Amino acid sequence: MTTLRINGQEYSAEIPGSMTLLEFVREVAKLTGTKKGCDNGDCGSCSVLLDGRAVLSCITPAFKAEGHAVTTIEGLASADELHPVQKAFIEAGAIQCGYCTPGMVMATVSLLSENADPSEEEIRCAIAGHLCRCTGYENTVKAVELAAKKLAEKAASCGEGQKCTK
Ligand code: FES
Ligand code: FES
Repeated sequence: MTTLRINGQEYSAEIPGSMTLLEFVREVAKLTGTKKGCDNGDCGSCSVLLDGRAVLSCITPAFKAEGHAVTTIEGLASADELHPVQKAFIEAGAIQCGYCTPGMVMATVSLLSENADPSEEEIRCAIAGHLCRCTGYENTVKAVELAAKKLAEKAASCGEGQKCTK
């Protein structure tokens, strides 16, 4: 039996050793916000957070996530409010068809948790492995910059020295 903690909730299932984290998230936990693109580690659409850092779930064996905190796009927003990174993507017009968006958002959350004020070059580097057929990436870069601003404002309103990611 494999038990994974996803967005704070436990999911248990008998799974083959070959099952990927992407398959577990979508087929066992029924969380379909995480998208399957290339299924080969090349497009970024399947990105989720493992202990806060973005990983490609299509090339991560599910069993390797046991004992770690998995966060998917469904785990970012609170009941009544989107996550600041989600808001920034909407406001910056960085979403068209939306297929790449969950992966881009998770990569952004991961980047900004390590680097609160990234340069344009650092942003482009962080999203380099994420393919988007629609936006041309310009608005994606603007969205990440806006997200950094929103998180900084939120952290300031939470109190000095306090880390605030929601
Ligand atoms: S589906 Fe995982 S990188 Fe493309
Ligand atoms: S918005 Fe369509 S692939 Fe990125």
